[in-house]
Amino acid sequence: MTVLNVILFLSFWKRWKPSDFGQPAPLHQVVKAVNNRTSGCVDLVWNFGSVTPFPYVWLRDSCLCPDCFHPTTLSRSLRIDQLQVDIEPQSVQNDSAAQQLVVTWPDGHVSRYPHQWLRERSFAKRDVKARRKQLDGPKTVLWDRATMDRHLLHVDYDRLVGGDLATLHDALHHLIVYGLVLVRKAPTDFGAVEEIGETLGHVRPTHYGKTFRVASKVDANNLAYTANELAPHMDLTYYEYMPGVQMLHCISQHIGDGGESIFSDSFHVAEVIRARRPDLFHLLATVPFEFADIGEEAESRSRCRFHKIHERTMFCIDEDGNITQVATNNPVRSYRLNVPLELVKPMYEGLRMFNDLCRHPDNQLTFKMDNGDVAVFNNRRVTHGRLGFTVTEDSQRTLEGGYVDWDDIMCRYRIVTDLLRERP
Ligand SMILES: *[C@@H]1O[C@H](CO)[C@@H](O)[C@H](O)[C@H]1NC(C)=O
Ligand SMILES: *[C@@H]1O[C@H](CO)[C@@H](O)[C@H](O)[C@H]1NC(C)=O
Ligand SMILES: *[C@@H]1O[C@H](CO)[C@@H](O)[C@H](O)[C@H]1NC(C)=O
Repeated sequence: MTVLNVILFLSFWKRWKPSDFGQPAPLHQVVKAVNNRTSGCVDLVWNFGSVTPFPYVWLRDSCLCPDCFHPTTLSRSLRIDQLQVDIEPQSVQNDSAAQQLVVTWPDGHVSRYPHQWLRERSFAKRDVKARRKQLDGPKTVLWDRATMDRHLLHVDYDRLVGGDLATLHDALHHLIVYGLVLVRKAPTDFGAVEEIGETLGHVRPTHYGKTFRVASKVDANNLAYTANELAPHMDLTYYEYMPGVQMLHCISQHIGDGGESIFSDSFHVAEVIRARRPDLFHLLATVPFEFADIGEEAESRSRCRFHKIHERTMFCIDEDGNITQVATNNPVRSYRLNVPLELVKPMYEGLRMFNDLCRHPDNQLTFKMDNGDVAVFNNRRVTHGRLGFTVTEDSQRTLEGGYVDWDDIMCRYRIVTDLLRERP
């Protein structure tokens, strides 16, 4: 314990008093509600000395009465055209017994807000920042091969799809933090991918169908359907809403040399590029590549033609400069490079540096999937690929793949986390 921690602990202890009912008193209580007409806010003064202002218009918009907030759909029913932007309260009270702020508006409408509810919606910069961080879920951990050798999570297929909450939580948590999980002992039939997809979220169909099969085909319409080596890539970079997570199920592995799967953490690789070549990092984060997939899929239920084109930067960064998404795919990178002439060579330098770092033995995780293994990985972060192999009559490499989107995965993660917390 540092000295600072001791001080914080003692000051906390001094303020903490058991209430009359033997329960610990709530830590944060409103001492005073001040109607601050200068700032157009109701200032709540808390027992620990902090003051949190709440703008009048936000308070009116956030009224929780059954006319303004629909109690069964749990959503706002107050319309924007019913909202007066420069509204001011007629009076402000704190109902300290009910632990509520009570605001009466000029038309007589009364709004009540639990203090705790307001606290969780404070406009203080620090609180806003913390809330936004929380939206991203657990913090990602960047990895190289050595890290992943230690941290690659294996989960049992039956436990995962059989409703074991702890297994599901572990799998989702690892997928968020590391972006790669290996499910083992799945049945070696088509269909396991769909089961896993519906366990983690919902299967997201594409023009290759609800799921797709990877086997060497004559006259393949996708390089994956050949026996060639596949360089590190993400799937479906020509979709604006590129799938969030990919599942690849090894139904029957190639016997003999080759066919190993390769994975690397592109966020880690991007950080190496940022450190060594900030100029290339900036280029790849600001100048887009075009991706396209044009052809025909005969095996999807409705034999369909496709013509997908999308332009995107290889790196996406947020306002703090943190990497949020990476997209690269050499075979479907368009031959149209829509950039000024002087950027052409640097763009290739960037592509080359990214590829070489993904393939570097220190970064690249290489293993040959067994029959029944399913690799589940973040398709916007972890590059995947495979080493080449030779197809023979008696050895055919067959995989089934599918996608799930992050919205559904994060949703399931929040629910499973809550369920485990509530469990006695
Ligand atoms: C709010 O509650 C506190 C403590 O019960 C009280 O001292 C204060 O006068 C109340 N009223 C307002 C408007 O803050
Ligand atoms: C009203 O808010 C302003 C701006 O935040 C602040 O400077 C002022 O002290 C507040 N007035 C009262 C009476 O609390
Ligand atoms: C985002 O970037 C900041 C500063 O560069 C760093 O401190 C922080 O750990 C990063 N967050 C994540 C989630 O990588």
